[in-house]
Amino acid sequence: MPNNSPPGTTGRANILLTGGAGYLGSHTYVALWQAGFQPFILDDFSNSDPAILQRLQQITGAPTRCQRGSVADTGLVAELIKQQRMQAVMHFAGFKAVGERVEQPLKYYSNNLGGMLSLLKAMEESACQTLVFSSSATVYGESSKLPITEDCPRSHTSPYGHTKLICEDMIAALQRASDAWRTGVLRYFNPVGAHPSGLIGEAPLGTPNNLLRFVAQVAAGLRPTLKVYGNDFATPDGTGVRDYIQVQDLAQRHVAALAALLRGQASFTVNLGTGRGHSVLEVVRAFELASGRPVPWQFAPRRSGDVASCYADPGLAERLLAWRAQHTLAEMCADAWRRQAGLLT
Ligand code: WQD
Repeated sequence: MPNNSPPGTTGRANILLTGGAGYLGSHTYVALWQAGFQPFILDDFSNSDPAILQRLQQITGAPTRCQRGSVADTGLVAELIKQQRMQAVMHFAGFKAVGERVEQPLKYYSNNLGGMLSLLKAMEESACQTLVFSSSATVYGESSKLPITEDCPRSHTSPYGHTKLICEDMIAALQRASDAWRTGVLRYFNPVGAHPSGLIGEAPLGTPNNLLRFVAQVAAGLRPTLKVYGNDFATPDGTGVRDYIQVQDLAQRHVAALAALLRGQASFTVNLGTGRGHSVLEVVRAFELASGRPVPWQFAPRRSGDVASCYADPGLAERLLAWRAQHTLAEMCADAWRRQAGLLT
């Protein structure tokens, strides 16, 4: 690993994490530190809690490096990259809340595309052109082929998915223009769970959207019941099927993707999923077993933008990044429950 840190720092290669105080960013911060890198957070805390910085220090044992600011501030980002001699950037910053990602298209196009454009300009200006991009399985829309491989046609069912698709195209255009760009596009399926310490996990500000956060809050008695969106999908029990992947597994793959690029691996795009799909009702049952708590639920109308089934063929990531997802659904539910129970103390 190159030792390009500015004098008087940790002697580790500096890596910029935009949106690094968020769910995936914070877990990747820990994984990078443990792998010998020096991660550096840029976050405007519009959808994350600054208290996470202290918790990251508790986990790593070292002061958390962070600059408060927006990825849309191109000058700030370019200055940070140059000043800290960043060796690469991991781009997590972006809106993704399910509830609004259909109803507020301009908010998503402006924030997610504007942020990406600003970041790419800053990276080109500061000659730091190694990028790991947090993409999403939503770029596949309603895939007619399952399990989904990376060559499946892309489409989208929401402005959120559309922004991810356009960001991928921006990256591809830069690669065609110059081989100075080296990128890893990671298409997450459904990230869930929490760090085993329970200190960090998915705690979005406001009402959670993602299934496991809602299930955890119902199990904890914070909400009376879970709404199951749709019971007439073409799936075994009629409820939505997704490929849930533990956030720790995902964070480790970010480190592997970065290390591969820094070693000279050509640019790539991979699915990060387990290859196993679970329905909403299967998740509810698994969570009740993991927590020992009932999770009352009731059917509700489908949610706009939801697809019936979405799960990965993880073969390319397993070959390229020498990785196979380690956590089972039961373990992911246990992690999420530990996190929720910890939040209650
Ligand atoms: C999962 C299933 C819902 C809540 C996620 C992330 C998104 C992106 C893609 C990374 C669906 C059902 C949910 C509830 C329910 N990830 N559900 N009741 O929609 O697959 O999108 O993966 O970029 O950021 O949100 O995940 O957890 O919202 O929904 O029935 O209260 O659970 O209909 O079938 P989704 P989700």
